[in-house]
Amino acid sequence: MSRPKILLTRPWPEGAFAYLRDRYEVTVNETGVPLTQAQLIAAMDDYDALCPTVTDRLTDQILKPGTRVRMIANFGAGFEHIDLEAAKAAGIRVSNTPDVLTEATAEIALLLMLMTSRRASEAERGLRDGRWNGWKPTQFLGQGLSGKTLGLVGFGRIGQATAHKAKTALGMQIAYHSRHRVAPEIEAQLGARYVGSLEALAAEADVLSLHTPGGEATRHLVDANLLRRMKPTAIVINTARGSVVHEADLAAALKAGTIWAAGLDVYEREPQVHPDLLALDNVVLLPHLGSATRETRDEMGLRAAYNLDRFFAGEPLIDPIA
Ligand code: 8YV
Repeated sequence: MSRPKILLTRPWPEGAFAYLRDRYEVTVNETGVPLTQAQLIAAMDDYDALCPTVTDRLTDQILKPGTRVRMIANFGAGFEHIDLEAAKAAGIRVSNTPDVLTEATAEIALLLMLMTSRRASEAERGLRDGRWNGWKPTQFLGQGLSGKTLGLVGFGRIGQATAHKAKTALGMQIAYHSRHRVAPEIEAQLGARYVGSLEALAAEADVLSLHTPGGEATRHLVDANLLRRMKPTAIVINTARGSVVHEADLAAALKAGTIWAAGLDVYEREPQVHPDLLALDNVVLLPHLGSATRETRDEMGLRAAYNLDRFFAGEPLIDPIA
């Protein structure tokens, strides 16, 4: 029997790619740029499965009944770029890669907390630009994080891992708000206090860190209205999805001193970053690095591959999302 034909929309790390190549007939888009909508539509009739990433928008124009592709194994946990309703209506199965990127993404949340609170990007820019002319008691003064309140918006796997690291490594107090309150044992284990509304959490947080999914339900949760409720010393961290933050409102708040700083890993219109943010010194801007470790990216590929294995063996998917 011939092996199923798989399309990777971007090159994968070697370990996961080797696993796939041993089992399937794999084609890779090596061009360095995402496939166009027209190329994706054509691919749906040329392959048995597709492995997209966050840079592929899989709309209802692509996910249609009767295509050859019957399985989409997304390389990544977030899936707001895939129209799951269209996939379900077309009878196309979809999986994602949760769990394996939890620790890496939580690490980036902590990195952004430290970089923003200690003004690391701004200070390094000063040094590289030749503006550092020696130690001074008052230069580049930041804020300590120990004993401060970390307010987590969304308290799933990554939110909880961030809470654990911030509490144990940085000595922060943990508060959270989410759609569903977690079990009392988890709250006790993490020393996490539930706050009944996003507004109340924002008002008391020294650092507000976002860990919700993307999509319509969370679009612009952080806007001018919410930012106005925050402390002038507060920091906003976003490792979730760019759509959760109204970027123009955030830039205005940072400029006006409504809040103190922000650390962003994700953007509303990646790879574009709002020009007002680029002009500010009190925002740290990372290029979507959340899961970018060698180990994690290999594990993400393997997790997608195991879902493909299950699909082609006629077994239940490990991580079904449609
Ligand atoms: C991935 C991410 O790199 O998995 C996610 O949801 O945000 C990133 O860490 C990206 O989505 C890959 O598709």
